[in-house]
Amino acid sequence: MDWGIKNRLSRLIQADGHCFFLPIDHGYFQGPTRSLEKPGETIKPILQYCDALFVTRGVLRSCVDAAIDKPVILRVSGGTSVVGKDLAHEGLTTSIEEILRLNAAAVGVSVFVGSDYEHQTLMNLSKLVNICENYGIPVMAVTAVGKEIEKREARYLALACRIAAELGAKVVKTYWCEKDFDKVVKGCPVPVVMAGGPRCESELEVIEFVYDGMQNGAIGINLGRNVWQNAHPVAMAKALRAVVHENASPKEAREIFNETKGSRKVASKA
Ligand code: 5RP
Repeated sequence: MDWGIKNRLSRLIQADGHCFFLPIDHGYFQGPTRSLEKPGETIKPILQYCDALFVTRGVLRSCVDAAIDKPVILRVSGGTSVVGKDLAHEGLTTSIEEILRLNAAAVGVSVFVGSDYEHQTLMNLSKLVNICENYGIPVMAVTAVGKEIEKREARYLALACRIAAELGAKVVKTYWCEKDFDKVVKGCPVPVVMAGGPRCESELEVIEFVYDGMQNGAIGINLGRNVWQNAHPVAMAKALRAVVHENASPKEAREIFNETKGSRKVASKA
């Protein structure tokens, strides 16, 4: 691996080999998203607990302070919406000049394995890798399932992750699954990062699946809604950071969540 790509990856994946990416790219296919009305404000208190921001160029330019000290993973696929015919029908949205101009540490592209647009989205990934490798930019593949959430099981996820890695992704983002998640990770020759998905019922549910995924070989998380849609986003970010970077147990992480939540209430009353 060339120095530039190693250097960029080292800004994303910390010295302990783990990472906590904060995605705020949801608007690129679902439009206005609760708690992301003002993305710059949403990330202000929580970004310090995360290792990188996953964002489109539009939100980056219009809402994010250029002086942030966290690396940016630029979302570079899109072209579909939740009200359109098929979420999988994505193309590449951003040029290499734009990726360089925005000083991205990496780029993220979705692949929809098994969909009508499997070939197109896998070729998006391949083309992006071809271009980005020339400039030392790592590519993160997002194994997306669109509305077909039943696909979130180990056999499918392992297939999608392996294909993404074979085509040159340096990191693969996929969903955690209850059964055989270790097989998903073991079958993928590059690091696997867990996606979040819609809000879980409770904080503990999120903490527990992140803990389980980390124990089964994931190197980290790319979690959005379960952080910034929580009533206590800072507490959630701190608790998840402890699981990812300090090997905190679910019980310890929950204590961090409760303590932070409590102390912030007191602070805001004072
Ligand atoms: C969509 C994405 C988003 O980054 C992803 O949805 C992560 O956010 P959340 O944790 O809210 O699901 O890649 O495909």
